[in-house]
Amino acid sequence: MSLRLRINGKTHDVEDDPDTPLIYVLRDTLKLRGTKLGCGLEQCGACAVLVDGGVRLSCVSPAGTFEGQEITTIEGLGATPTGKRVQEAFVTESAAQCGYCTAGLVVAVTALLEETPSPDPEKTRTALAPHLCRCGSHPRILKAVETAAGRS
Ligand code: FES
Ligand code: FES
Repeated sequence: MSLRLRINGKTHDVEDDPDTPLIYVLRDTLKLRGTKLGCGLEQCGACAVLVDGGVRLSCVSPAGTFEGQEITTIEGLGATPTGKRVQEAFVTESAAQCGYCTAGLVVAVTALLEETPSPDPEKTRTALAPHLCRCGSHPRILKAVETAAGRS
């Protein structure tokens, strides 16, 4: 069995079983280890990637269901102006502590700002609610959203 996936602008043919959750194909087969495995149960947001511009969790859904879609991981996000701006804002605002949730949050903020360039705090909180951070970086993450949105 094989899989053809579009990831960060390139086509990858891999031999993994299409039922393998996407995150294992990304991390183990393709060595794209920026995407983190947290809960493995679609409960924490650590494993988020962009799929056709929307936020998708990669820890449960079979990789085969992503064929024909454009996947962007944290490794490819900086190639887009919004992704680059969000990454820079996270650095500027020191919006990470252990960094485990950070890739998923950068993905989520990028998707948010692509859809709504200047989100109000309520919209930001709603968009980021599925992303858990155990280190208490939340205030700095919210500040990074403001910075990336050009409001601070
Ligand atoms: S690892 Fe996927 S949501 Fe937690
Ligand atoms: S920075 Fe450590 S979990 Fe968020």
